[in-house]
Amino acid sequence: MSIFDEIGKIVDNFNSEFDKVNSQEKIVELKNKYLGRKGLIANLFSQIGKVEAQDRKEFGKSLNLLKNELISKIDKKNKQFSISEEKSNKNDYSLPGYSFNKGSQHPLTQAIDEMLDIFNHLGFDIAYGPEVETDWFNFGSLNFPENHPARDMQDTFYTEGNGILRTHTSPVQTRFMTKNKPPIRIVAPGRVYRNEAISARSYCLFNQIEGLYVDENVTFSELRGTLDMFCKMYFGSDVKIKFRTSYFPFTEPSAEVDVSCFLCGGKGCRVCKNTGWLEILGCGMVDPNVFKSVGYDPEKVNGFAFGLGVERMAMLKLGINDIRILYENDIEFLKQF
Ligand code: PHE
Repeated sequence: MSIFDEIGKIVDNFNSEFDKVNSQEKIVELKNKYLGRKGLIANLFSQIGKVEAQDRKEFGKSLNLLKNELISKIDKKNKQFSISEEKSNKNDYSLPGYSFNKGSQHPLTQAIDEMLDIFNHLGFDIAYGPEVETDWFNFGSLNFPENHPARDMQDTFYTEGNGILRTHTSPVQTRFMTKNKPPIRIVAPGRVYRNEAISARSYCLFNQIEGLYVDENVTFSELRGTLDMFCKMYFGSDVKIKFRTSYFPFTEPSAEVDVSCFLCGGKGCRVCKNTGWLEILGCGMVDPNVFKSVGYDPEKVNGFAFGLGVERMAMLKLGINDIRILYENDIEFLKQF
């Protein structure tokens, strides 16, 4: 029998054995028998010296073809076995189920909802305004002098055309007043944008909630009472807050409110700039010029306004010491809320 006949015999044997294979173990056995280091194919290769010189090329070629064919057949069968094994696993009802991630609301969304709920409780409705504003609503209607530094390119992002990204939610005050008559009790949540250096305590965009209360004979103590109540309802009744006199073009008198930094327990940290206090809002009695710009008579009505920083407050309550993490969408961080 010539060595070429032996190739033929191996093919025949392989085919009949291959057809009988019925498990993944058997296919491994078959693979070792034919393709292993000491297998039948390797054995034939080692006999190449016995082949007549002029036939050697032909012999090597057929042997290589055969080897490749066996490899591809075996691999294919092997895959079928793995797939059917996987399928049968799926039918094993004792296996644990596939877990999936349940989505939840972003901590900032939760904080905004909670704050709006409190204001609702105190009698305020919700109003909205656009994020791309006009110079008039963002500044002019709010009594900003023509050359006020806040209009500077430094703080304000400009859009193509004549728009600006609102730098605060206060334009919702004047937008609302131009369309409605007093009495007014609204809160307006939304994003604001400032071209500031980014750090642990400030980001180029953040959320504010604006408040506006307009009626007759409104007093500063009503403003204090409202904000005091709000802070206690949001942070808990033993929160410490303090009013500091301040300046805003659209309120007179104006104040800023600080709360004790309980991130560091008042000892000082990078979020409170080592002061132990964190500024969370600006407020004041609405400036008569603002009423004039929306066509109200400042002799007849008055009121108060405030604008609070949502992130600052949420960070304090949730113990977050870097504002940037609220904008990174890090799943491991978000999962905690
Ligand atoms: N708009 C002010 C700010 O962004 C906050 C503020 C709102 C102050 C309303 C007074 C009254 O800082």
